[in-house]
Amino acid sequence: MSSLSASESVPTKGLSVKVENLSVTYRTTFERVPTFKNAITRFGRGQRAVREVEALKNVTFDVPDGTALGIIGNNGAGKSTLMRALAGILPPTEGRIEVNGRISPLLSLGVGFNPMLSGRENIILGGLASGLSRAQVVARAEEVTAFAGLEEFIDAPMRTYSSGMYSRLAFSVAVHMDPDILMIDEALSAGDATFKTKAAEKMGELRESARAFFLVSHSLASIKQLCNDAIWLHKGTLMMRGTPEEVTAAYADFVNVGESAVILEDL
Ligand SMILES: Nc1ncnc2c1ncn2[C@@H]1O[C@H](COP(=O)(O)OP(=O)(O)O)[C@@H](O)[C@H]1O
Ligand SMILES: [Mg+2]
Repeated sequence: MSSLSASESVPTKGLSVKVENLSVTYRTTFERVPTFKNAITRFGRGQRAVREVEALKNVTFDVPDGTALGIIGNNGAGKSTLMRALAGILPPTEGRIEVNGRISPLLSLGVGFNPMLSGRENIILGGLASGLSRAQVVARAEEVTAFAGLEEFIDAPMRTYSSGMYSRLAFSVAVHMDPDILMIDEALSAGDATFKTKAAEKMGELRESARAFFLVSHSLASIKQLCNDAIWLHKGTLMMRGTPEEVTAAYADFVNVGESAVILEDL
């Protein structure tokens, strides 16, 4: 408690999340299709090759309690990787992450759901993964089902669900488990217009009650409406941190330039 060496594990006061020099590199191995020449020299065996993707490069930022952080950036910028790393699903390749509180681990619309199980069984699993007791989750299952509008389908295996049903349930589970830290990855792209409105309202409520709120979205309007702070990632690099107005404006400028110029590649 008083020893200096323990300071690493003592939560930083007033901070929900602290990310220091975070890098995440994916390594995937694949069998290279043999060319005619090396097929002969290697007797037809495929060649093992390793592909590395630096999805996050030396990213540092703090998230004070009470922050609703918007995360924007092009496809492949590293936004979902950052969410997975914060949720503890993906270990950092370098750097460190400190998370103070219970995080809602249901991210990119149903990661963690088992399609062979029913919606109801997945609600239970999702709730347990969020750190609730079985009794607590069971008590909430009806509310989760109703919010997702899945009363008739909740006992059917999730492999029979449409992608809209799947993502509505994922969203509903995530928002009903009282997380200290709520993370929503691209939720607004899920569901029809009615569900989007309902989802936006629910997120507004949760932003008030949660200690911190992370929203990954391509909708700059949603980021401005729901967040009080924002970051912009590009090709794994933290480009900017600021108010949602500043960051969305800078990103919008950048995207307009990038479409017609080579500048995008230089950055
Ligand atoms: N499981 C994975 N294995 C290998 N590469 C991955 C994996 N997931 C993402 N990537 C790569 O990492 C980079 C960042 O991806 P991601 O975090 O999904 O970006 P975003 O959510 O901003 O679109 C991309 O180049 C993507 O192709
Ligand atoms: Mg993503």
